[in-house]
Parts: sequence; C-alpha cells; structure tokens
Amino acid sequence: MRKPIIAGNWKMYKTPQEAVAFVNAIKDRLAALPAAERVVCPPYVALPSVQAALAGTDIAVGAQDVHWQEEGAYTSQIAPGMLRGLVKHVIVGHSETREYQGVTDEMVNRKAKAALAHGLHPIIAVGESLAINEAGQTQQFVERQIRAAFDGIPAEALASIVVAYEPIWAIGTGRSASGEQANAIIGSIRAILADLYGHEHAEAMRIQYGGSVKPGNMAEFMSQPHIDGALVGGASLQEDSFVDLVRIAIEAKGLA
Ligand code: PGA
Repeated sequence: MRKPIIAGNWKMYKTPQEAVAFVNAIKDRLAALPAAERVVCPPYVALPSVQAALAGTDIAVGAQDVHWQEEGAYTSQIAPGMLRGLVKHVIVGHSETREYQGVTDEMVNRKAKAALAHGLHPIIAVGESLAINEAGQTQQFVERQIRAAFDGIPAEALASIVVAYEPIWAIGTGRSASGEQANAIIGSIRAILADLYGHEHAEAMRIQYGGSVKPGNMAEFMSQPHIDGALVGGASLQEDSFVDLVRIAIEAKGLA
C-alpha cells in the first residue's frame, strides 16, 4: 500500500510570521493524522522558522524549487546544498516555474538529480495546458515530460521521488479534472514508469493529483486507485481546509 502524501504548495503567500502562526495552529491536529505524509512548502524565507516550529513532529517541510548548480552567479536562485537540513522535499517543474521562469524539461531533470544528490526528495510536477488538453494530446505531452524528467535517474532513487500530475487548466481556476480523468492520466504515468523501471517500481511510486483540490472534491480524487495524494495550492492556505484534506485522504484510502 502506498502511503498517501498531501503537500501544501503555498506559492508566494504568507510572511514568515504568518507561516509560523499557521503551522503552530494546526500542527497538533496534523500530528494526529499520521496515516498520510503531510508536507508544507512555504516560500524560501519562511523555511527556517517553519522548520524550527515543526521540529519534533513528523510533518515535513518542502521548498518550492531549487537550482541544479552547487553555487555560482545565479542571482535570485537557491542551490540544493542550501536546503539541506531545512527541508525534506522540493517541488521541481511546477507549471508556474515552467511558464514564468522558463524552466524546461531538461532543467527539471537537472533539478531533480541535484536534489537527489543532496538527499532531498523531489516532487516532480508535470501537466498539460488547456490547448494541449483540448487537442487530445495530454497523454503524449505528459509522457514526454515524464521521460525527460527521469532521464538518467536510477531505480534506487525512485523511493525518494513523488510525481505530481497537475493539469495547468485546473490550477487555481476552480476547474478541476474529474477523478476518473485524473486517474486515467496518472495510470498512464505509472505505465510509463513501468516501462522505464519495471512494474514493481512503478507500483511503489506515489503520484499525486493537483489542480483546484478542495475538501469538497478530495474524496473523489483519493478514492481513485492510482492517485496517492495531492499537491494543493489555494486550499492549503487555510488551516481547517488543509487539515480536512489530510483527514479525507486517510478516510478515502481506508486508513482511518
Ligand atoms: P491550486 O494549485 O490547488 O490552487 O489549484 C495547485 C498547485 O499549483 O500546486
């Protein structure tokens, strides 16, 4: 059984003070739900204080991106070694970084490898635009993203990796995929991973859905066999809804 993983991607929301107040307000309630992995991904500047606030709990912290170089003249960027000891996870390839920062499939691959080399656990995000979706090209597009992202990554690293399938047209729009649609694409991602690494590895990999996930539609996604959790933006910013998402995932997977 794959353990569900619910990650809150806070994007460019919450000051360090707000971030600490948020985790302090929910950490006891989250700690009472250990059947799912729970991750919060605040902005970089809040990572040290959120990590300190969650010390001694099993609630993990993640970063929202990472550069692939060890160091260098890359104004504004954060190297993987700088995140060591601060975070467990790091999101790479989020569609907003692909769109606004020109992150390519090759860069996603380099970021994932650099993260792994530093003991960080990448959450590799993939997903298609509305135009690609409407053209019926989703499967081929996502396949390219997955094959590129995993290029040169050895099977031993897979246990440290989570994939997030996030259709871009569903992110922050209130328009989510249906549970069946998301399950079908995520099942096809699992089939690609099986082609790359074999059936057993693919069955063990966790693949999240993301895109307008809310307490109201969480059970629909989490009751799908291939969906192992969620990468959540908007609904992870409110205390009650984030706790509800974790609780609903655990119930829907029959782990309560
Ligand atoms: P959303 O964002 O839940 O606000 O749609 C998801 C994401 O971008 O990870």
